[in-house]
Amino acid sequence: MPDVPLLEVRDLVKHFTARPGRGRVTVAAVDGVAFALRHGETLGLVGESGSGKSTIGRLVTRLLRPDRGEILLAGRDVATLSVRAMRPYRRDVQLVFQDPYSSLNPRHTVGDILGMALRVHDTVPKAQVASRIRELLGQVGLEPAHAGRYPHEFSGGQRQRIGIARALAVQPRLIVADEPVSALDVSIQAQVMNLLEDLRADLGLAFLFISHDLAVVRHFCDRVAVLYRGRIVEIGGRDQIYADPRHPYTQTLLAAVPDIAWLRGGGARRSRAAASAAPAAELGTQHSGCRFRARCPVAAPACAESEPALTVRADGHLAACHVR
Ligand SMILES: Nc1ncnc2c1ncn2[C@@H]1O[C@H](COP(=O)(O)OP(=O)(O)OP(=O)(O)O)[C@@H](O)[C@H]1O
Ligand code: SF4
Ligand SMILES: [Mg+2]
Repeated sequence: MPDVPLLEVRDLVKHFTARPGRGRVTVAAVDGVAFALRHGETLGLVGESGSGKSTIGRLVTRLLRPDRGEILLAGRDVATLSVRAMRPYRRDVQLVFQDPYSSLNPRHTVGDILGMALRVHDTVPKAQVASRIRELLGQVGLEPAHAGRYPHEFSGGQRQRIGIARALAVQPRLIVADEPVSALDVSIQAQVMNLLEDLRADLGLAFLFISHDLAVVRHFCDRVAVLYRGRIVEIGGRDQIYADPRHPYTQTLLAAVPDIAWLRGGGARRSRAAASAAPAAELGTQHSGCRFRARCPVAAPACAESEPALTVRADGHLAACHVR
């Protein structure tokens, strides 16, 4: 079924209840999100800290159960499946974490870690596990001898390669990569991104690529979704979003990236502060109208009345704004 998206998310909602001091505050971490991802496609998910990127990643991989909404994997809704019923689908979607060290058990060798991933999903016959581990290590640029070493014996970049090998072990169709290079040295980031690009080309993998680094997203992703306080405010092709951002929040974010701002004609200094994290007090508050209103430089009276829906722009991409 080539026209059925690999992943489709509809009206996804996840709220958390936090207790800052006295009282309870409900945080709408994901507040009605919809998008689709085709086979082999790469969708970037960007937005400031706390905008709900990781929560979407954890919902899509079903580490979390949504409060509401659908998560269709090749047409099958897995949003409310039990852990057991989810098992056959879990191998289709794998998560690569930001911090590979905390996601790798320090007491297991790399061979054990990869072997366990292979066994959980019965991916290869027992007799072929050792050769598959060697193959996986080769695919991520490590040596066969590395199978006998422990995670602490590797550099940060190598550890992320191990995390990627573990995700690949079960032959997924989609990888959710949550800030996969942001904990690494700049010089190593490019090497790991090159590896992800090679894997995408060789294996036809789709990616949901979560990052705060807009330059990396521009380089790696086919399409980009901009998230603001749990909602997608703009989504479209990479070139559409970067060349002609319509939503004031997207414009603010892009203006804060020096090279992109320079290409677009300046504004880096002006907007750098505006693109930092939302004030904590703002996150739990109820809102009416547009959720970006308090920070928006072009807000109009209509913006207080109703939350804007995503609407199609001239070039075909979608933005949620009453004014722009
Ligand atoms: N388990 C949890 N319990 C309570 N609140 C949570 C939980 N997980 C996330 N949140 C809250 O949900 C909101 C979205 O968090 P999330 O981690 O998805 O953001 P993010 O976009 O990934 O941010 P960052 O860029 O900092 O990683 C935040 O306000 C966060 O504090
Ligand atoms: S709807 Fe209004 S407040 Fe919201 S982003 Fe657009 S102009 Fe700004
Ligand atoms: Mg996150």
